[in-house]
Amino acid sequence: MTQILKPTILITGASKGLGAEIAEHYLNQGHKVVSLSRSASVVHENHLQYQADISIEADILYVIKDLKSKKIPIDVLINNAGIASMNFMVSTPLTTAASIFNTNVLGSFLVTREISKMMILQKAGRIINISSVSLPLHLEWQSIYASSKAALEEFTRIIAKELAPFNVTANILGPNPMATDLIHGIPESNLNKVLERQSIKKMGMPSDVIHCLDFFMSEKSTAITGQTIYLNGVF
Ligand SMILES: NC(=O)c1ccc[n+]([C@@H]2O[C@H](COP(=O)([O-])OP(=O)(O)OC[C@H]3O[C@@H](n4cnc5c(N)ncnc54)[C@H](OP(=O)(O)O)[C@@H]3O)[C@@H](O)[C@H]2O)c1
Repeated sequence: MTQILKPTILITGASKGLGAEIAEHYLNQGHKVVSLSRSASVVHENHLQYQADISIEADILYVIKDLKSKKIPIDVLINNAGIASMNFMVSTPLTTAASIFNTNVLGSFLVTREISKMMILQKAGRIINISSVSLPLHLEWQSIYASSKAALEEFTRIIAKELAPFNVTANILGPNPMATDLIHGIPESNLNKVLERQSIKKMGMPSDVIHCLDFFMSEKSTAITGQTIYLNGVF
C-alpha cells in the first residue's frame, strides 16, 4: 500500500445508492476517493470524479491515463456499479440481458484489468467486488442479474489466485436488499418474501457493507483473498 493509514479508494457507481454512501463515508474518514459513474457524484475536495461508463473501454483507458498523469496510485478498488432488471426469463429482451452483462461483468472486468496493472507495479492492492444475495438465494425473476453476479464472483476467485503473488487481494461482498433505486420498482410483498429467506430478516444497510469493506481493505487482511461474505445470514 502506498498510504497505509488512508488508502486511496477507487469506486465505481458513486453517483447514488450504495456507492454514494460508500464514497461519502470514506471521504469523511479522510481518504482520497476516485469514482467513475455516468452522472455526477458528491462534491468534496478529496473526491476526483470521472463521468465515465465502465462498459466503454475508451472511457476506462482515459481515466487510467489521467490518473497516471496526475500520479494518483489506487490502493483499493471497489467494483460497485451495477444494474438489474427483474424479469420473467421468457420475457427478458436480449438488449436488457446484454446491458446487464456489459455493465456488471465486462465493465467490472475492464476496470479491474486496468487498475490491477497499477497494483501489480505497486506490489499491493485490495479489490472488492459487489455481488448480491440474489445469487445464493437463486431468486426468481433475476436469472440474468444473478447470472451476471455469478460470473463476477468466479472472475474474482480466479484473479485472486493470479494476483496473489503481487500482494493484491480480491474478495466478494454480497449485500441483501437495500433501499436504493436498484430495487425501487419491486413490490413490498415480493421484497418481504426475500427477507423471509434470510437468517436475519431485515433490509440491508450501507453501514453493514462498509463494515465488511473495512475488513477486506484492512492492512491486516493480507491472508484474506478469494472469499465471499453475504450479509444478513444468507448462505
Ligand atoms: N440495492 C440492493 O438491494 C442491492 C442488493 C444487493 C447488491 N446490490 C449491488 O450493489 C451495487 C450498487 O447498487 P445500488 O443499489 O446502489 O444501485 P443504484 O442506486 O441503481 O446505483 C447504481 C450505481 O451504478 C452506476 N452505474 C450503473 N451503470 C454504470 C455504468 N455503465 N458505468 C458507470 N457507472 C454505472 C450508477 O451511476 P450512473 O447511472 O450515474 O452511471 C449508480 O451510481 C450493485 O452492484 C448492485 O448489484 C444492490
